[in-house]
Amino acid sequence: MITREETWDGFWAQLLRIDMFAEQWEAYRKVADSRAEWLEKSFGLDRERPVLSLACGEGGIELALARRGYNVIGIDRSQVLVSFARDRAIEENLNATFVHADLTENSQLPGNNGTVICFDTLGLLHDDDEYRLVQRAAGALHREGILLIDNPLRDDLSTVRRWQRIREGYFLMEAWLDKASGIQIQNPIFISPEGEEVLLRDPYDRKRESHTGVHRYVYTPTELVNLLKSTGLPAREFKHQRGGFYMVAGSRRLEE
Ligand SMILES: C[S@@+](CC[C@H](N)C(=O)[O-])C[C@H]1O[C@@H](n2cnc3c(N)ncnc32)[C@H](O)[C@@H]1O
Repeated sequence: MITREETWDGFWAQLLRIDMFAEQWEAYRKVADSRAEWLEKSFGLDRERPVLSLACGEGGIELALARRGYNVIGIDRSQVLVSFARDRAIEENLNATFVHADLTENSQLPGNNGTVICFDTLGLLHDDDEYRLVQRAAGALHREGILLIDNPLRDDLSTVRRWQRIREGYFLMEAWLDKASGIQIQNPIFISPEGEEVLLRDPYDRKRESHTGVHRYVYTPTELVNLLKSTGLPAREFKHQRGGFYMVAGSRRLEE
């Protein structure tokens, strides 16, 4: 069998974040709208100031917040996903801007945000990049703003082996948690209709030795709370609306 390797943005983002949801956008949108409503109610988001989303992907939550009247800025290093989110924002005439940028670079983030979110992403990058990103995220907040970061719960990450038909081919996913290191390994494989095997190779963590698949460190809630506290913000864990996930919030508002 011929094997080919593709990057996240070059191939996989389109397959896993866009094609995978084709014909399910209505359901996808309902879930995003309900999550946005939950975020608003649970964390008292500031309507007067922007929401900045770091690693926004295809913009599900971001567009849902914009539908609720927020001014949203999303940043992601996948051009495919940023273009997709931008097109949806234009179609719906929403106050949402999507920027293509690599968050491991030290470019300045737009400041004075009422809310900064970073969902389902920490653990993918190198520790140093994540530390700096969280510091920059806290620095991009208005004084009374809130930083929200969510992540999967280790105990809910079961071993996965599944396949499905997609784009006339087959998508296979193998994922498991290495309990000793707290690293989740995901090995996506696409088998094209011609029988070619496509693997993912992408330098999410620029300092980790090159490998195929995704190796993601799964923070415990205490570790993530401490990471947020390292910015000087009071922080704590909250129960998530999304099963298998927890939320950590950092804000001076939590002081009272
Ligand atoms: C698991 S997805 C999460 C997307 C979205 N936040 C969500 O909750 O659905 C991780 C996202 O991180 C983005 N990403 C990974 N490394 C990045 C980097 N260095 N700079 C910006 N975005 C990055 C990927 O393109 C991808 O969209």
